[in-house]
Amino acid sequence: MQYNNVWDYRHSAKEALTKEAWDYLEGGAGDEHTVQHNRAIFNQYSFRPKIPSKIVDKINTDVSILGIKRELPILLGPVSPLQLFHSGGERAQVQGASDANTVAVCSGHSLAKIEEMGSWNGRKWLQLYSTVDAAHNYEIIDRACRAGYEALVVTVDAFHKAIRDRDLKNSFKLPSGIGFGNYPVKSYRADGSIELLPLGWDDLTSILEYSEIPVIIKGVLSPDDVKLASEIGFSGVVISNHGGRQLDRASTTLDVLQELRGVSRNGFDIYIDGGFMRGVDILMALALGASAVFLGRAYVYGLVVAGGSGVSDVVSILMNELTNAMRQIGVSSISELSSELLIKNNCTFTI
Ligand SMILES: Cc1cc2nc3c(=O)[nH]c(=O)nc-3n(C[C@H](O)[C@H](O)[C@H](O)COP(=O)(O)O)c2cc1C
Repeated sequence: MQYNNVWDYRHSAKEALTKEAWDYLEGGAGDEHTVQHNRAIFNQYSFRPKIPSKIVDKINTDVSILGIKRELPILLGPVSPLQLFHSGGERAQVQGASDANTVAVCSGHSLAKIEEMGSWNGRKWLQLYSTVDAAHNYEIIDRACRAGYEALVVTVDAFHKAIRDRDLKNSFKLPSGIGFGNYPVKSYRADGSIELLPLGWDDLTSILEYSEIPVIIKGVLSPDDVKLASEIGFSGVVISNHGGRQLDRASTTLDVLQELRGVSRNGFDIYIDGGFMRGVDILMALALGASAVFLGRAYVYGLVVAGGSGVSDVVSILMNELTNAMRQIGVSSISELSSELLIKNNCTFTI
């Protein structure tokens, strides 16, 4: 099978997985309006290409991530449990990221130990889900700092268990042997899931003060939150609705991106995720002010099909589409992008 785009990987991933695992990956909360809207939102924008002032052969995709110049505006977001999708699990995610020259954001709900993931070759950030045991959160931060993770990503949109109809219908349970490698026993609920501690601004500020590595908040949609995070000293936010998995009818991320960029200070990183499947999707987000894009399901499709090499192939397909689209609209670097290259359509359409 030839994999020309992310949809080809998705097609094969669906064939390879059990119905339960596929539904867990694809499904969302409630009627899955937000899952669908995350894709449909891209239909609301169109590019308005310009004749370039100078024809440049080389396309430059450099962006600033945590104040450092990086070649790719794509990171691999946290997804768990990866063993449900490929036996290589987190190792395949980290290897795929490293081969693609990008960052793996390792899920706090990984099966592999924080130290083990930290020892693998490649750049890594660690995502944190707070547990009911507050001391445990600080222990995780210590371990992440010691194990060489470059940043901490604190997820704030998934404290409460979501209602996902597909999983209910399938009576979904994690297969035995797939669990959480870094949580103390007292965090476990009777059904094997982890009980999380909702975090408010005081808790987040304490985490920021405690951490020796940059802290990013994942799961924000409100301008007030972005303004405060930027003022208090967080390094960035991930605009996210958790791939539509937590709150159905939550706003799409692309819809609020420009507004959220507008309320943050210069140099504050604004990442975005939700429904990114094509290079043009990534280009739209960059033009609307994103620092870079987190992939979710897109790289998991590659992982299902071919482990780490599938993951890196997904990134390289998207980078190829992105650079091609940059040529088509007449820009040779990300810094030349602006919202003026986009128009908002009056009507929406589906494909
Ligand atoms: C199966 C699955 C598991 C996920 N697990 C985590 C997780 O452990 N931590 C986290 O912060 N987000 C998690 N997410 C959310 C993703 O990081 C991301 O926000 C979302 O998938 C983006 O939407 P997309 O998949 O449409 O790109 C998960 C998403 C999926 C699909």
